[in-house]
Amino acid sequence: MTKLKEIEVTMGAAKMDDSSNTSALRNPGDDDRPVLFEAADVSKNFEATRALDHVTVQFQRHDVHAIVGENGAGKSTLVKVISGVYGSNTHEGELRLEGRKLSIHNIAEAEANGIFLVPQDLQVVAELSVAENIFLNREPHRLGVVDWKKMLADAKKLMDDFRIDCSPTDAMGHLSTAKQKLVIITRAMARGVRVLALDEPTAALTETETQILFDYVLELKNRGISIIYISHRLDEITNIADRITVLRDGRVVDHLERGDPIAVTQRVVRAMVGRNVKLQSRKGYERGKAKLEVQDLSLEPLNRGGRPQLSSITLSVHSGEIVGVFGSVGSGTDALVGSLLGMTNVRPTGTISVDGKTVSLRSPSDAIKAGVGYLPADRGRDAIFPVLSVAQHITLLMLSIVSTGGVLRPRGEAALAKSYIDQFSIKISSSDDLIGQLSGGNQQKVVIARLLASDPKIFIFHDPTQGVDIATKKEVYDVIDELAKAGKAVMVVSSDLEEIFLTADRIVVLRAGALMGHYRSAETTEEEVLSVATADTLRDIGHN
Ligand SMILES: Nc1ncnc2c1ncn2[C@@H]1O[C@H](COP(=O)(O)OP(=O)(O)O)[C@@H](O)[C@H]1O
Ligand SMILES: [Mg+2]
Repeated sequence: MTKLKEIEVTMGAAKMDDSSNTSALRNPGDDDRPVLFEAADVSKNFEATRALDHVTVQFQRHDVHAIVGENGAGKSTLVKVISGVYGSNTHEGELRLEGRKLSIHNIAEAEANGIFLVPQDLQVVAELSVAENIFLNREPHRLGVVDWKKMLADAKKLMDDFRIDCSPTDAMGHLSTAKQKLVIITRAMARGVRVLALDEPTAALTETETQILFDYVLELKNRGISIIYISHRLDEITNIADRITVLRDGRVVDHLERGDPIAVTQRVVRAMVGRNVKLQSRKGYERGKAKLEVQDLSLEPLNRGGRPQLSSITLSVHSGEIVGVFGSVGSGTDALVGSLLGMTNVRPTGTISVDGKTVSLRSPSDAIKAGVGYLPADRGRDAIFPVLSVAQHITLLMLSIVSTGGVLRPRGEAALAKSYIDQFSIKISSSDDLIGQLSGGNQQKVVIARLLASDPKIFIFHDPTQGVDIATKKEVYDVIDELAKAGKAVMVVSSDLEEIFLTADRIVVLRAGALMGHYRSAETTEEEVLSVATADTLRDIGHN
C-alpha cells in the first residue's frame, strides 16, 4: 500500500508547485494588440471530473496561439467549448468576440460567428466529394437547383488558391488524413473563418505533410486568422506558435510568448509536469524469465504514403516486472497493442514470442490462447482508438472468460464475479446490473476482475485509469502492483506520464512509430521522458 501515499504526495505537489519563470521570456500583456476572441472564466465538469477550471484565454488576429498540456489537461474540452460542440448552457463562463458576448448553442452557431474547429478525430463523409464537403448546405443555386458547374469551379479555385493537390470531384474517403484536414480548413476559409482551432492536427501526419500543414497555418495567420493550435509536440510549438498557454488539471498554469526555443521548452515542460519531486517507482522488484518478447516489429502505414505505424520495435517484458510504454496519440502505442492482440488492419512483420516460443497472433482468440490478457482503455466516448472498435473491446472481454476448453462456464463465472465484486468493493445493487449503469471507476473494476478471472501470463493495461476518479486510480495501481509481485509480466501502455512513473519498473518511449528511448524508471525523470516523447531535438535539456 506504499503506492497510495506516493500518489497523495504527487497530487499535493501538483497543486502546490507552479513552474518558475525564466526571465528572458516575455509574458503576455507586454503586448497591447486588441483581443479578437476570448474565453473568459470558463469552467466545465464531466460528472466528478473538473475538465476546465476558471480558464481565461485571449486570442488575437494574425496569431498562432498554442494550447499545450499533458493528456487529460483539458485542451480538447476547451476547443470544444469554443467551437460550440459543447453549447453555452453546458459550461460556466463566457465567450466574447470583439468584446461582444456570444451565446453559442451548437457548432452551426459557432461557425456563423466565424469560429471553426478541426477536431482531432476528424470524421468526414467518405462518399461525398471534396466540393460537396466544402459547400455542404450552402451549395450555389441557379434557377432553383444546385449549380454544380459553379460549385466545382469555386472549389477548384479554392484548391488552387491553397495549392491543395486534389480534384474537387475526388471522394473525401480517398484522400489522406492530411488532405482531408486541409480540405476542412479550406471549407472554413470559404465560410469566413476568423478563429480556427486545430486539435492535434499533425498526430497522424508524416513529416512532409506536417510541413505542408505548417505552411498552410502560416498563410492563414498572414490573412489575419486567429489560430488556436493544440499539440503535444513541443518542437512544433516552438516552431510555429506566437504564444503558448499551458493547461494542467483544467487550469491555466503558464502563459508565455515566443522566445528562445530551449528556454520556452524547459518552462513549458516544467509547467506541464508541474512538480519538482521525483515520482517514486517500484523498488527492488524480482525480475524473472522473459515472458513476452517483441523483435523487430513493424507495421505498414495506415494510409498509402503515410509513415509506418511501427518501425522495428524490439522490447521484452519479464516475469515480475512492469514495463511502461509511453507515447502520445499517433506515437504507435495503439498499433503496438493491436499487434499484440492480433487486431491490426494488416499483419505486422517481425516476431512476437511468449515464454520463448514464437506465436502467430492473427486474431484476439490467438492472443488469448497465447496468454495475453488485455485491459482496454475506456475510450468508448472518444472513439480515438483506430485499431480496435468498441464492439471488439467487448468481444475480447467476453472471449477472455471462456475457459481453456472453449466452453463458457456461467456458474463458475457468477461465483468468480461475486468474489471479485467483494474484493474490489464494486458498488452495484445486484450482479444483474448492466455494466453501462455503473460509474466509470466501477466499470473499470469489473473489467479488471474479468481479466484476472482468465489468469493470463502477460497483462496489458492500456490507459487503465483514463476517466476514473482518484480513489479508483489508487486501487487500479495496487492491482497492477500485486500482479507483478505475483510473478506476472505486466505492460502498462499509457499516454499519462504520471501513470507510467507510478507503475513501471522500466519505461519504453514511442514516438512516430519508433522506439525513441528506454529507461529504468529509477534512473530517469519525467522531464527526460516527456522531452524524448515529444521531440528528439530536446533530448539535451537538463533535468534541473
Ligand atoms: N465526454 C467526456 N465525458 C467524461 N469525461 C470527459 C469527457 N471528455 C473529457 N473528459 C475528461 O475531462 C478531462 C479533460 O479531457 P480533455 O479535454 O480531453 O483533455 P486533453 O485534450 O487535454 O487530453 C479528462 O479528465 C477527461 O477524462
Ligand atoms: Mg485532447
